[in-house]
Amino acid sequence: MTGDGDAAARAAAAFAERFGRQADGIWAAPGRVNVIGEHTDYNGGYVLPVALPHTTRAAMARRDDGLLVLASAQRPEQEAVVPVADLRPGWPGGWAAYPAGVVHALAGRVPGGLSVLVDGDVPSGAGLSSSAALSCSVALGVRDLLDLDLDADALIDLARRAENDFAGAPTGVLDQSASILCTAGHALFLDTRDGTREQVPLDLAAAGLALLVVDTGTTHDHTEGGYADRRRECEEAARRLGVALLREVDDVPALAPLADGSLEGDLLLRRARHVVTEDARVLEVVAALRGDADPRAIGPLLTAGHASLRDDFEVSVPLIDACVEAASAGGAHGARMVGGGFGGSVVALVDSGGVDTVRASVADRFAHEGHPAPRTFVVIPSPGARRLT
Ligand code: GLA
Repeated sequence: MTGDGDAAARAAAAFAERFGRQADGIWAAPGRVNVIGEHTDYNGGYVLPVALPHTTRAAMARRDDGLLVLASAQRPEQEAVVPVADLRPGWPGGWAAYPAGVVHALAGRVPGGLSVLVDGDVPSGAGLSSSAALSCSVALGVRDLLDLDLDADALIDLARRAENDFAGAPTGVLDQSASILCTAGHALFLDTRDGTREQVPLDLAAAGLALLVVDTGTTHDHTEGGYADRRRECEEAARRLGVALLREVDDVPALAPLADGSLEGDLLLRRARHVVTEDARVLEVVAALRGDADPRAIGPLLTAGHASLRDDFEVSVPLIDACVEAASAGGAHGARMVGGGFGGSVVALVDSGGVDTVRASVADRFAHEGHPAPRTFVVIPSPGARRLT
């Protein structure tokens, strides 16, 4: 990760080199790690993310030839040059779909075109929302450059539509909300049903604790089927229960009508049980963090959340499970997979003095399974999307 000043200077230099002129401005948006509340967002439930210090920076300038030119410092060979009027969902594809989707979602409000150079350090495919960092940095930049009347909720919606409608990743609002709304030193407690939010102070270091992220190196892609399947299963469970969203189900006993003796009924019951219990876990974690309780108390809730994602929701993979086990064996108070699943990262709550032991435990386990030691870092809850220059 790079400090804002250095990051802005680097993006400015890369923009000038590519476009032969100065950028009109530079914006940054972070990736996120979700403390708890996984696969709840598209069910109208609760989430509790923190922003990472890792960001995507978008250096941008207006054009007058109607072209959208999208360049990436990380993927220089994958540049996209498309007339704004020709943007269509799926074209351009790849990384460029996210910024292009933002411009497309603005439906004709960017007629002159834009030059965009993105530079970032959010690990991609790691379940840490590199795509939301990308779309949110560009959304904020377009808003400022064109002086559009868009508040935080409108920016979140714009970035979400870019991902859902243009890039074809049927995500909820967790990642975009975290990237836009998070503040330094806090976790964002968000009710995705009505957008109500609260910044919950999260000073783990003061309690002698740290949030350790382990990027397992197994990548995921939510434009592939597993994530969309889970969404459909949740919708079907809600339909059978006669509610619009699983959020409206009060408790696990209320799921009984799903158990009709069929295999499908059993599967829908397990999917819905994850969502209902996960919403309850978010509320418990928030209550613990708001009160005077020792934050170590949230550890078992994180681990229970992982078991639910693994067994009921079935979105974990063996290497992620091994990583969670190794973190706990190494002394973590709790650990769980992060994000949509099918690979990606694990977050663990560890004693500040025990970070190295947990790292070593995970590295040993990876070596035992024939994998290189994974990349790890301690998360400092960081600011959301912002203008750098
Ligand atoms: C991905 C999606 C989010 C959310 C998480 C799971 O990160 O982009 O909207 O559904 O998975 O909590």
